[in-house]
Amino acid sequence: MNVYDSARMADVLAPHGFAPVDAPDDADMVILNTCHIREKAAEKVYSELGRIRQIRERRAADGRKTVIAVAGCVAQAEGEEMRARAPFVDIVLGPQTYHRLPEMVARAARAGGVVATDFPVEAKFDELPEASAPQGPSAFLTVQEGCDKFCTFCVVPYTRGAEFSRPAAQIVAEAKKLVAQGSAEITLLGQNVNAYRGPAPDGGTWGLARLIRALAEIRGLARIRYTTSHPRDMDEALIEAHADVPALMPFLHLPVQSGSDRILTAMNRGHGAADYRALVESLRRARPDLALSSDFIVGFPGETEADFAATLALVRDVGYAQAYSFKYSPRPGTPASLAEDQVPDAVKTERLHRLQAELWDQQRRFNESKVGSVMPVLLDKPGRRPGQLLGRSPWLQAVHLDAPAHDMGRIVEARIGAATVSSLAGRALVREDAAA
Ligand code: 5AD
Ligand code: SF4
Repeated sequence: MNVYDSARMADVLAPHGFAPVDAPDDADMVILNTCHIREKAAEKVYSELGRIRQIRERRAADGRKTVIAVAGCVAQAEGEEMRARAPFVDIVLGPQTYHRLPEMVARAARAGGVVATDFPVEAKFDELPEASAPQGPSAFLTVQEGCDKFCTFCVVPYTRGAEFSRPAAQIVAEAKKLVAQGSAEITLLGQNVNAYRGPAPDGGTWGLARLIRALAEIRGLARIRYTTSHPRDMDEALIEAHADVPALMPFLHLPVQSGSDRILTAMNRGHGAADYRALVESLRRARPDLALSSDFIVGFPGETEADFAATLALVRDVGYAQAYSFKYSPRPGTPASLAEDQVPDAVKTERLHRLQAELWDQQRRFNESKVGSVMPVLLDKPGRRPGQLLGRSPWLQAVHLDAPAHDMGRIVEARIGAATVSSLAGRALVREDAAA
């Protein structure tokens, strides 16, 4: 989402004479877009700010000004505190105020520091200009922001605010524009994307499934994905969409966090491990080739060896194509950070290693299962060497292909010849092969 937000900040600044540059030394303004989800985020921002300050001083010696802005959830969480600790920062702006960036730049030039961390009543998306810069073959599109779930470990409900869904017509219009600009794949974004409930063109409300069906009608939009989902918001309509919308890719990021009911309750996730297993089963009934990804937290307060064993058991039962796993990191202001039974770091580290060994093994096996098969690959990046392009499989695997440069941006049929834990390799079929 920060990638998408950064692009929108560039869009909002473009009419005011700003354009992205490659090197910070050339920048009249530097925006650090930050994430607060896990520990040390604020520390990283302050050390990066130290480097940017040096650049500013170098530029000042040549008589050039540099505006420094910090955006994103660290800015939201730190607020005034950031200007107290780093007074050379001109603008501190939270994720709900990006549309006011040009006005802040003007205000900072006139009056010095600006801090904007409110949640304005006007909807940011109504104020932002239309997205203008093309995103390439694979694009992001935010459909929903914020979260009302209040998992006890998580800062998102505090930094991103309450759940908000963009009007469906606005999303469809943005998607059409992205496709017209050459995007063949769109990933719908939201902190809680499957909780999407947006005002619909017919005056009613659309859920995510209905929105996906509307987007699937856009000619040229070959692939639709969405992330990140909460198991509790995975409704029948969405499961059905996986069965019968061909553009909806057979890969789903569905975080479970833990396999222990006791821990899931303490996390306030609102479901148990059996509910999640049952959900995965119905999804796989709907789309037998569906591959799953998840997020896991190890060492949540009170997690015992038995709780952790339940997580490992769930991982083995479900079988993941890919997953992210983290040590629990106490976040200021969240209920879990106040729990007395914090797990020692050494225990967290040891459990993380065991979990990651299992997850990597599953990921490698999943990748190897594709060797010898033919699959469509969306080519969206230059390859490691000439004659090669990098793309994505339907299951979001990175695929290195021997393919001519003019295939960039296209979906080509490819035969997979090799797999590693992190990627596939193969060659694009020439049309005769493909027809055979
Ligand atoms: N500690 C560790 N991991 C966390 N996540 C969110 N908050 C924390 C935390 N305090 C992880 C969750 C979430 C992902 C985006 O980040 O697994 O799904
Ligand atoms: Fe955070 Fe996701 Fe829980 Fe919301 S549902 S509080 S974003 S982990």
